[in-house]
Amino acid sequence: MDILEIMKRRTSRRSYNNKPLTDEQVKQINEVIEYGMNKYNVKAELLVGNDDVFKGFTSSYGMFSGVNNYIVFYGKVDNQNLNEEVGMLGEEIILRATEIGLSTCWVGGTYSKKLCPVKIDDDENLVCIVAIGETKENTSFREKFIKGLSKRHSKSIDLMITSDVELPDWIINGMKAVQLAPSAVNRQPVKFVYKDNVLRASVDDINSYQGIDLGIAKIHFNLGSNKGSFKIGNNAEFIEELI
Ligand SMILES: Cc1cc2nc3c(=O)[nH]c(=O)nc-3n(C[C@H](O)[C@H](O)[C@H](O)COP(=O)(O)O)c2cc1C
Repeated sequence: MDILEIMKRRTSRRSYNNKPLTDEQVKQINEVIEYGMNKYNVKAELLVGNDDVFKGFTSSYGMFSGVNNYIVFYGKVDNQNLNEEVGMLGEEIILRATEIGLSTCWVGGTYSKKLCPVKIDDDENLVCIVAIGETKENTSFREKFIKGLSKRHSKSIDLMITSDVELPDWIINGMKAVQLAPSAVNRQPVKFVYKDNVLRASVDDINSYQGIDLGIAKIHFNLGSNKGSFKIGNNAEFIEELI
C-alpha cells in the first residue's frame, strides 16, 4: 500500500476489542521494534494480553477501553534526544501496524506509569506508551465524543512552514505527510523553515511531548518527500539523498 494511503488510514483509536495480538501480529510488530532499536537509541517492549497501565484511568481524554496490548517506550536519561527518537521509532511501528490492519493510539499522559510492568532502570526514563490492537470497523458514539475533545483537523501547510522561495514539490509532498501526523492533543507544534536551500524542523520545548511530536513529524516528512531524511536534534537539517 502507498505510504500516503497508510498515513490517511491511521487515526487514533481508543476502544479496542480486548483480544491479545495473534502470534503472527506479534512477530510483525516485533520485527519493526528490533530493527528500530538498532537504529535509534531507544528501548521498546511490546506487552501482549496485558492492560495493567489502563486500570483505573478515568479522565475523558484518555478514556480507553478494551486495550489488551501496548508498547512501552523508554531509554537512557542522558540521551538528549530521547523524546524525539521515541517519536521516530514509535511512528515507524504505528505506520507498519496500520499497514497490517491494526489500530493504535499514542498515550503520553492518560495511563498509570506506576502500574507499568516493564523494569525501568534508575538511569532510564519511561517516556510513553502506544496502545495497539484490533478495533471495530466503525467508531462508537462514545469514541467519537472522546475524539472530539482533541479535534482532528490539520493546520494548513502555510502555517507550518516558512520559506524564502516558492516551495519545491518534494517539500510540499513532505508537508502533506506531516499534515497527517499525530501530535499530543493535536497541537501540531513542529515548525519547518526552508532558507538558503536548507530545510530545518524545530519545536519550542524539546523536553516536553513536543519532542515526541518532532520525531513523529520528521518520520512523516521523510517518507512523504522521498528525498532523504532529517538529522536527529531540535532544529536539525534535512539531508538530501540520491535516490
Ligand atoms: C506524544 C503524544 C501523546 C499523546 N497522548 C495521548 C493521551 O495521553 N491520551 C489520548 O487519548 N491521546 C493521546 N494522544 C493522541 C492525540 O490526541 C492524537 O494523535 C491527536 O488528537 C490527533 O488525532 P489523530 O491521531 O486521530 O490524527 C497523544 C498523541 C501524541 C503524539
